Amino acid sequence: MLCYLDEKTTAMANDIYANNVNDYVCPRQAAAEKEQFFRKGPISIGLSCLVPKPGDFMIHDLTGVPILLVRRPDGSLGAFLNVCRHRGARVAEGCGSAKLFTCPFHAWTYDADGKLRGRPDERSFAGLEKDKVGLRPLPIVEKYGMIWVSPTPGPTFEIAPLLGGLERDLAEYKLEGYHHYETRILRRQMNWKLVIDTFLETYHLQFLYPKTIYPILHSNLATFDAFGRNLRMIAARRTIEQLCATPQDQWNIIPLTAVICVLFPNTAFIIQGDHLETWHVYPSGDGVNKSTMRVSFYTPEPANTEKARKYWNKNFNLLMATVEDEDFPMAEGIQRGFHSPAQEAIHFGHNEPALQHFHKSVKTALGVS
Ligand code: FES
Repeated sequence: MLCYLDEKTTAMANDIYANNVNDYVCPRQAAAEKEQFFRKGPISIGLSCLVPKPGDFMIHDLTGVPILLVRRPDGSLGAFLNVCRHRGARVAEGCGSAKLFTCPFHAWTYDADGKLRGRPDERSFAGLEKDKVGLRPLPIVEKYGMIWVSPTPGPTFEIAPLLGGLERDLAEYKLEGYHHYETRILRRQMNWKLVIDTFLETYHLQFLYPKTIYPILHSNLATFDAFGRNLRMIAARRTIEQLCATPQDQWNIIPLTAVICVLFPNTAFIIQGDHLETWHVYPSGDGVNKSTMRVSFYTPEPANTEKARKYWNKNFNLLMATVEDEDFPMAEGIQRGFHSPAQEAIHFGHNEPALQHFHKSVKTALGVS
């Protein structure tokens, strides 16, 4: 990175890449992405601290499948379809702590293992064995302080092959020690991939944020590494030059950088010096030009004091203001342009290798060229 700074360059791809505009507007591709990425999965849900203690639960609906996550008494995490086996009502809402989940419709009651523990007027269901109608479990993996779920019932999965080597970084970040501060839901009029694109180059910093981000981060300067379909891009804060005067064995690059990982397909995971943000992006509507984002803010210490809450609120609000006022209006304009006959492809330059990798990975995963 210091070399890039010296030579006024950045990580470079070998070629310019023409990405079809159709990728952002095609209902058939949107349907294939929904099926493959968001229905089958597996997909990253967030950090373990979303459900930290035995009895804690949360629901998750943004893949299009109603999911219930429950921390069991033994500390393990279960995932179930949030669908009652009597007549299909949702058995839980929101998040909180509960030993049992009682369906609001006719009070069938399930435990943290999804087992049906009781149902009123038992004799009316004699012959329908209780152990045949527990909540349907979903495959789940919890590792490196993170949670992945497959929204479709089936065999369990291994996470290492999906991470492609990025697990070494994830282990080093010690995510188990983080605390959930807040999650906000944003809905915008753009394809979900366009949201991910927002994070994948620093070329725009100087122009889109001359007064907010550009004074903090170098523009058009970032490292790029691919880990299977995932990627890691590291942007440099202006303070990075202080490394030149520091012996290399004393370097700590985290406070001097912004580390952006994309956990394929829909999660941007950003280490911002003193805290962590995750952006989980989902298609909504028909998946073409509407998306929903689950933006979570995690801190290394619990925010127990007024002073801490004030500090983190200011940080979170600044982040939201930047994306809401600058990035997303720009991206929504791009989406509208994609529906016009202006061009068949957009172009990712040599200086945009992360964009190239992400879109090539989407195509590979979908089996399209
Ligand atoms: S639908 Fe849940 S108890 Fe009837």
